[in-house]
Amino acid sequence: AKKIGVLTSGGDAPGMNAAVRAVCRAGLAKGMEVVGILRGYNGLLNGEVIEMNARTVSGIIQRGGTCLYTARCPEFRDIEGVKKGRDKCLEMGLDGIVVIGGDGSFRGAADLSAQGIPCIGLPGTIDNDISCTEYTIGYDTAMNTAMEMIDKIRDTAQSHDRCSVVEVMGRNAGHIAINVAAAVGAEAVITPEKPYDLNAIAQKMEQTKKSGKTHFIIVVAEGVGKTEYITRTLQDITGVESRATILGHVQRGGSPTVRDRVVATEMGYHAVELLEQGIGNRVVGMKDNKIYDVDIQEALSMKKPFEEELYKILNETAF
Ligand code: F6P
Repeated sequence: AKKIGVLTSGGDAPGMNAAVRAVCRAGLAKGMEVVGILRGYNGLLNGEVIEMNARTVSGIIQRGGTCLYTARCPEFRDIEGVKKGRDKCLEMGLDGIVVIGGDGSFRGAADLSAQGIPCIGLPGTIDNDISCTEYTIGYDTAMNTAMEMIDKIRDTAQSHDRCSVVEVMGRNAGHIAINVAAAVGAEAVITPEKPYDLNAIAQKMEQTKKSGKTHFIIVVAEGVGKTEYITRTLQDITGVESRATILGHVQRGGSPTVRDRVVATEMGYHAVELLEQGIGNRVVGMKDNKIYDVDIQEALSMKKPFEEELYKILNETAF
């Protein structure tokens, strides 16, 4: 019988537990032995590994975070670390590993595959910044959390006739920012993919004030930075009292949405099907709304298009 491992690596994301559960249950259903590797690649190198049975993953599908813990592992960036990882896999009799994480984690999975241990990457990050897939596990939950928080911020901005500038996560990408801005009806969104002009935003605020608008929501992507500066500048130009809020790690937690649980389950199952056939060095993703898989090197060289259409609609309808 085959023996497979599963680990989570990089930043946690809601839905990772659903993916771990799916990998575990799919493996068991196919007659495999399944182990959980704790704290990402660190656990592989340190032998922090737990045997899994069906009950190990009971009651986790609805929980945020990752029951396997997660970490970044600098040692695994060197070939020496990867070779040590391969030796550990051989020692444990592992026939493959499912790695749930982001691009950095996939690089490790590719390196380990090249050393003869088939690895499958599953996209797990709230940022949706993995090019080979239309969707990453955790994205929907994070956006819904940010949306709910901004709805709350709007209540107080409205009561005080203020402008609230809200920074959302996303590392270097603006996917969360653009979609959440559209969902809350923000006055403007500032994302790293596009140049921005604070004078133009201020001017738009002045104009909409004339039609009776008394409060404003501006969404800023983390990758832009300078949220405090943007807030002060808009206040200085418009005279509208302004406040900055950085949502931060609240966006990473919480019970996963239906979408995150279902996609995680489908992707986890698909990963095990690949390992069952001895296939490695692939990333599971979503293309045209369907689960598919792609070579890791190819996945890492892809580029994700910017959401031009949504960006345009948002700006045209924000007044
Ligand atoms: O990738 C998820 C993410 O939350 C990004 O949005 C953010 O840039 C980063 O992780 C923060 O990392 P950390 O939790 O290590 O500060």
